[in-house]
This record gives sequence, structure tokens and C-alpha cells, in this order.
Amino acid sequence: MTRAWKIEPTGPLRGDVTVRGSKNAVTKHMVAALLGEGPSRIANAPRVGDVEITGSMLRSVGASVEREGDTLVIERGAELSAAVPTTFTGRNRIPVLLLGPLLNLTGEAFVPLVGGDAIGPRPLDFHIDALTKMGANIVVDETGIHATARRLQGTKVQLPYPSVGATESVMLSAVLAEGRTVIQNAAVEPEIMELALFLQRMGAGIQLQPDRRILIEGVEKLHGAATTLAGDRLEAFSYLVAGLLTGGQVRVHGCAQERLVTAIETLRKMGTHFEISDQYITASAPNGLRSAAVHTDTHPGFATDWQQPLLVLMSQARGLSVLHETVFENRFVYVKALQQLGCEIELFPMCLGGNACRFHDTNHLHSAVVHGPSKLVGAEVHVPDVRTGYSSVIAASIADGPSVLLDVESLERGYDEPLNRLQSLGMAITVIGS
Ligand code: EPU
Repeated sequence: MTRAWKIEPTGPLRGDVTVRGSKNAVTKHMVAALLGEGPSRIANAPRVGDVEITGSMLRSVGASVEREGDTLVIERGAELSAAVPTTFTGRNRIPVLLLGPLLNLTGEAFVPLVGGDAIGPRPLDFHIDALTKMGANIVVDETGIHATARRLQGTKVQLPYPSVGATESVMLSAVLAEGRTVIQNAAVEPEIMELALFLQRMGAGIQLQPDRRILIEGVEKLHGAATTLAGDRLEAFSYLVAGLLTGGQVRVHGCAQERLVTAIETLRKMGTHFEISDQYITASAPNGLRSAAVHTDTHPGFATDWQQPLLVLMSQARGLSVLHETVFENRFVYVKALQQLGCEIELFPMCLGGNACRFHDTNHLHSAVVHGPSKLVGAEVHVPDVRTGYSSVIAASIADGPSVLLDVESLERGYDEPLNRLQSLGMAITVIGS
């Protein structure tokens, strides 16, 4: 049997949570560490499954990866293998980020097909087109991506959309390429800025320019460096919402306000009161919440990974809310689980609650209308991805009876010790299965 969580209706969640470094930054820093000569130290690393997977992947190509408490120590070995084993097929999104680094370090590379959560086709065309433009010969077959190049060449890369992964791919490739690379229409998410700073510490030539441009001057060598990861803004938001949803109050430490500006403003408009200091952020809504119209966007807009807890919150706000997803065409896969738990949500292919997006005039169900307050009911639900897992957990905690969430491995892979943290806030969770 796979792991399941049984959740009893709980009452207000209260207490303190300290978030560690972000899931979506740590693994990219781990890949960057492979580029340096000498050890790199990545502190405040979260305990998420993706770190274990990425650590094994780096070991498989010849790096040493050790954990000393919350610090990862990574060092490239003398001999590198150019191939990531196919046992990593579908495990996470990291193999494609190793393509450029392995090319620069060994002249060839093979990476298996990537995984990640079930949120749309998530193609890799931007990555492959950019590396091809940088001089790689690339062949994709059913096992993965094969590439060769003597050394990648700096060039202008115009991304069709500010993709987080493709921006990281080009950055990690360009730092050791020959000459200057300019990424136009780059993603500027805080996790990307963090990666740029880490690469700069390693000796990379990186300039952040206005209008989504990142300019990279390739160097011959990078050295190891040390950094402390900034707190995970997606987890911070998730726990603030858990407190609000249950009529309680969670104080979140470890994530700077600047990473949450848009999230805070969105919740404020819905009636949330905040206490914000340099150490922590607390959210409460003593007078209940109002409905809202929100659209997701690239940074500094409302992040697509904030929308799942928000949708649950909307189901308890007064009135009709609208959420328009503009980053992934199929991000609402988790709605089925919420509907089973009683959330009154309808999906539409139109662009509701914002300007027309890339998915306008398609059949992708990318706008949600949420009726609140909905009465939630205990149910047995399958959770196909990490964000579905978290939103289902918090919805289940305010249902009128017990719920069973099946296949919680993705939640346990993507959040940092979620069971301990939710239990410490007062949620009644029992684990079923090993
Ligand atoms: N896209 C393409 N071609 C490409 C690359 C991307 O069409 O070659 C499209 C995607 O299909 C999507 C859009 O561009 O429609 C944005 O995708 P992006 O590349 O930015 O996403 P990602 O790098 O695959 C990361 C995070 C996601 C997060 C997104 C957006 C990691 C490991 N994943 O994914 O996080 O939602 O950026 O901010 O960093 C999560 O944490 O639950 C999660 C899914």
C-alpha cells in the first residue's frame, strides 16, 4: 500500500512555523555546485525528496554530496561521467539542467527524460533550442536527450516565454561557455536571482539588466562557494493560508516579506490582517474573508504555486471568486480532489478575471470560479502532485468528517517535513501505510 494520511476535522491551526530554503532553489544550487572546482556549501537546505533525488543524480555523474545538518556540501570529483542514468527518468525536472554543465565539462552529455508534476505537457523546447543556438548537437529519442559540443558558445537567447527552467538552463550553461550570452525575456523569480548571486560568488560573470535581460560573460573556471538559501515563499504562503482557513493564526518565520509582497496584498484585499516584522509574518482574519479576482503570473505577479491554497481559501470567503491561471495550461488538476471535498469550483476555458493570456482561444480549462462559503465534507481523495496534496490537506482539516488522502508521497517530496509541521500547528493527521 502507498502512504496515506487520515485527517480529522481539526479546528483553528495556531503556532509558529520556520520555513527553510526553497525547494525550487536548492536543487538548482546543487547543479551549480557541480560547476566549481572545490567544495560548495549550501546552508538552510530543506529536507525535501527532490534534494535526495538530485543528490543521487550528482553522485551518479561523479560528485560527492554530503549533508552536515542543514548544510549540503558538494564537490565535483576528478572524473565526471557525461551520462545521467535512465533510472532517473521522470523523477524530477533537474536532468535537463545538467545538459549544459556536462557539455561544458566533458564535451558530451546524456540526460533522461524529465518528470515533475502533472501540470500540462511541460515541454523542453526552450532548453533545447537555446543549447542548440549555443552550438550543441542535440538528438532526442525515447530514452532521453543526447548532446555533444566542444565548448558551448555565448549567443543571444530570446526566450518565447520567461520560463524559470529554461532561464536556469541557459545560465548554468553560459557561465562556462565561450564568450557573452544574453538571455532576453528571462524569468526573474526570486529563486533565479538567488542562483545568479550564487554563480557570481563562484566567480561567474553575471549582470542583471533591465527588461528581463541577463548578461553572462563565460569564464574558464569557477570555484566552490558558500551560501545560505532564502526561505521558501511557497511554503510560507501555504502556512499563512492554513491558519486563515481554519480561523486560526500561524506565525511564519524564515521568509522575507519582499518575497511575499503580491501574496500579502492579495490576502489583504480579501480582508486579512497582517503583523509583519523582520523576523516573522502573521496573518489573521477575525472578520472573515471576502471574495477576490486573481490571476497568476510570472514574478512579481501572483505565483502559480500560490494558487492551490488560495483556491481553498476562496471556497470559504463570502461570494464568488475568480482565479485565472496564465502560467501552466493544466494547473487545475488538483480541483477534482477539492470538489470531492465539497469545494464548489467550476472550470472554464475562457480568460476570466484578467487580461487575455496565452491560453485564450484554446480548450484548456484555465479559469476557476469558486463559490464561497462552501460546506466541506470528509472524503477519500487521490493527490497526484505536491500542490494538490497540500491544498487537499488543509481543505480536509475543515471538513465535517474524517478524510483519507491517498498517495501523499508527492506532498512529502515537495514540502519540508509537512507532517511534523502541520501536526505541530494542531492538525490531527495519522499516517496509514509505511
Ligand atoms: N515552457 C515551454 N517550453 C519549455 C519550458 C517551459 O513551453 O522549454 C512553458 C511551460 O510549459 C509553462 C511555462 O513555460 O507553460 C512556464 O514553465 P517554467 O519553465 O517556468 O516552469 P518550470 O521551470 O518547469 C518551475 C517550478 C514550478 C513553478 C514554475 C513557474 C521548479 C522545479 N519548478 O517549473 O514549481 O510552478 O517554475 O514558476 O523550479 C512546484 O513547485 O509545484 C512547481 C511546479
